[in-house]
Amino acid sequence: MKKGVMRPGHVQIRVLDLEEAINHYVELMGLIETDRDDQGRVYLKAWTEVDKFSVVLREADQPGMDFMSFKCLSEEVLDLLQHELVDYGVEVEEVAAGELKGCGRRIRFQAPTGHNFELFATKEQTGRYGVGNHNPEAWPRDLKGMKAQRFDHCLLYGPNLDQTYALFRDVLGFDLCEQVMTPDGKRVAQFLTTSMKAHDIAFIDHPEPGKFHHASFFLETWEDVLRAGDLISMTDTSIDIGPTRHGITHGQTIYFFDPSGNRNEVFCGGDYFYPDHEPITWDADKLGKAIFYHDRQLNERFLTALT
Ligand SMILES: [Fe+2]
Repeated sequence: MKKGVMRPGHVQIRVLDLEEAINHYVELMGLIETDRDDQGRVYLKAWTEVDKFSVVLREADQPGMDFMSFKCLSEEVLDLLQHELVDYGVEVEEVAAGELKGCGRRIRFQAPTGHNFELFATKEQTGRYGVGNHNPEAWPRDLKGMKAQRFDHCLLYGPNLDQTYALFRDVLGFDLCEQVMTPDGKRVAQFLTTSMKAHDIAFIDHPEPGKFHHASFFLETWEDVLRAGDLISMTDTSIDIGPTRHGITHGQTIYFFDPSGNRNEVFCGGDYFYPDHEPITWDADKLGKAIFYHDRQLNERFLTALT
């Protein structure tokens, strides 16, 4: 049941070389740089997003994800969820407004999978890039590369999927769209939504906590996904798999890596969700088809290349 968590707001990604990363996320993927801060972090957004940023790049010695943040409907909702997290027994840390430029206070907590999540309600709105809100044209003419439209979701690897699902369901109001179950009833993958999207966050069972599988960005058409594949080859970017289709969510997808080894996805299409939808279940022995619908088998990289 929805409790006022609207959507993925931003993800902070660690990169080994900031300039290489900017070249990747801006020139290849088509994100737009909107700011930098005195910590050296770079703020990016996709063109259809109304908020100032959705991706923050931080230079570090190890790649991976620092945190993923969800935007709430209001400061009142944020207050309520902060209290509910504490009542649920979750340790929360309050990050002051302005720690990320243009972003209000954030409530940070760790999920049982070992990942850091945040909630916030306020962020400076810069509007849709290049078209705005008044008589907007169809798209801006100066977009680069893949022309990513929005930051859509992350897929994360870690332990304690049941406890993590319970936290996201009971406190944050997420619904379970899709799951992969073993014959003895263990959920080894869970795709959760707080919207009509097929997933806003997804988890795969993995013994090591806090691992980052990919950050995903939405494209409009299958033609755009194919074109992304062309651009990946033109730029000698490391490719993982695709263009292909997922069984889970039925999205059409391509996976590749940023210069630091963080996986990215761009995709189009996919299922939709309403709160009266029963979760879709895949059997674990169909995992290959569930992930890569055409190949029907996982490549080793999908399971092991994590940051
Ligand atoms: Fe994905």
